[in-house]
Amino acid sequence: MGLKMNEVWDTDKRKRPIGVFDSGVGGISVLRELAALMPNENYIYYGDSAHAPYGTKTLEEVQRLTLADAAFLEAHRVKALVVACNTATSAAVGLLREKYADMPVIGIEPALKPAMEVKVHPRVLVMATPMTLREEKFRQLMRRYEKKGEIITLPAPGLVELVEAGELSGEKPEAYLRELFAAYKTGDLDCVVLGCTHYPFVRRTVQQVLGKGVMLFDGGAGTARETKRRLREAGLLNPQQEKGAVTLLSSSEGEDAAALAQMLFEKY
Ligand code: DGL
Repeated sequence: MGLKMNEVWDTDKRKRPIGVFDSGVGGISVLRELAALMPNENYIYYGDSAHAPYGTKTLEEVQRLTLADAAFLEAHRVKALVVACNTATSAAVGLLREKYADMPVIGIEPALKPAMEVKVHPRVLVMATPMTLREEKFRQLMRRYEKKGEIITLPAPGLVELVEAGELSGEKPEAYLRELFAAYKTGDLDCVVLGCTHYPFVRRTVQQVLGKGVMLFDGGAGTARETKRRLREAGLLNPQQEKGAVTLLSSSEGEDAAALAQMLFEKY
């Protein structure tokens, strides 16, 4: 008789899935990087779309929701937690590390470092949720790089909702982004940091509105590399050779949410 999954996981923790979560579908941009870097791992993704957006809620609310997301994934017996949400990371990664001290907890932050290195004294705009930009974690990151160039912060409330509705290109996101960037002319900016995991899904529209001269950065690939490093360090890399399983779960029950998640993971 073959071993059931739970029994396999009891004997070999390395075969357990990696838990990845976000306030909604945004973290799928990170999941894609993880699956590209470590295709042999199993993943459980949880998008809390029923409560998105997080970025305009209070700190206490986001901490409570983030702890609930992590508890949901822990119940699925994950071996590590990837907080694929800049907002949840800035609000609660410390709480998660305290609560799950025996498992790797990997957060994400706006990819300011590579953007500040593109040239001497670049002009870099960081777009993110109001909470990410307000919290101490980002303030610290900014202080680390402020002497290397000019950093402009731009909250983008409302953009997460567009992505959650599957509005990735066309009239609505274009109009939103044109207004958001209205103060910047061609040549004003060297780089834009997509400091929210939902934004890589409107990357093409951002590029179209800002023009080809602006370089775009996001933290997905760096977070995937950090996850691999942390798993290796903990002896938790999955030894299996075959492609792993990816399970997409959401707190929102509609079929539309599931179809959007699948589409974003597979082909966007
Ligand atoms: N994907 C989340 C982030 O990276 C969006 C937060 C929200 O729901 O407002 O910040």
